[in-house]
Amino acid sequence: MSGFRIAVLASGTGTNLQAILDGVHGRSFGGQDFEVVAVASDKPDAKALERAGAAEIETETFERKDGEDREARDSVMAGWLDERRPDLVVLAGYMQLLSPGFVEHFRGRMINVHPALLPSFPGIDAIGQALAHGVTVTGVTVHFVDEGMDSGPILLQLPVVVPSSRDRAELEAMIHSVEHELLPKAIRLIASGRVSLDPDNPRVVRIRPE
Ligand code: GRF
Repeated sequence: MSGFRIAVLASGTGTNLQAILDGVHGRSFGGQDFEVVAVASDKPDAKALERAGAAEIETETFERKDGEDREARDSVMAGWLDERRPDLVVLAGYMQLLSPGFVEHFRGRMINVHPALLPSFPGIDAIGQALAHGVTVTGVTVHFVDEGMDSGPILLQLPVVVPSSRDRAELEAMIHSVEHELLPKAIRLIASGRVSLDPDNPRVVRIRPE
C-alpha cells in the first residue's frame, strides 16, 4: 500500500492539526496510508507542538531571530520539511506570511484553511472582519497557497450562517467545527489525485468526479 505524507505548519492551539490527527493520521483511504510526518511552528510554546508530540510526530520550531530575514528562516524550514518528504504541506493556523521562494518550492502541494468565504475577509481576524461588516453568511475556505494573502486557488468552501445573536464565541465555534470537517476532507481529496488546476484558468480548481 502506498503512503501519503503530510506536513503541518501551525502557530496556535492546533485544533485543526488535531482534526487532521484524528481524521486522517494513521488511517487508510483509497488504498493509501496517511501519515503526518512533521509539524513545524514559528512559536516554541504553540499548543499545536504539544499535540504533535503526544502523537509522537517529529516537531521543530523555526523562529525568526533578530535581524534574520524571512527568506533565510523559510529556506531552513523548507530544508527540514524536504528531509521528511511530504506530499502535502498544510497551513493549519500558521500565522506567518511565507516568502516567495518557499511558496514556489511547495506550489501546488501546499494548502491553507481560512475562516471566511474568500475572497471576502482575507488576512488576520477574518471572523471579526465578517462581524464588523455585518454579513449574515460567512464560512470556511480551503485553498492552495500562492504568494498573496489568502489569495490562492480555492479548493473547498462551506458557508456558515451568522447566528442571530451575532455572538463572536458562538460564531467562532461554528466556524471551527466546519474547518475541522473541511480540512481533512481537502487532504483526502488531494491524495485521491482527483484535484487539478484548470489549464485555461489556473485560478480555478477542478475536481474530477469519483
Ligand atoms: C483557524 O481558524 C484557521 O482558519 C486560522 O487560524 C485558526 C487556527 O486555529 N487560520 P487552530 O490553531 O487550528 O485551533
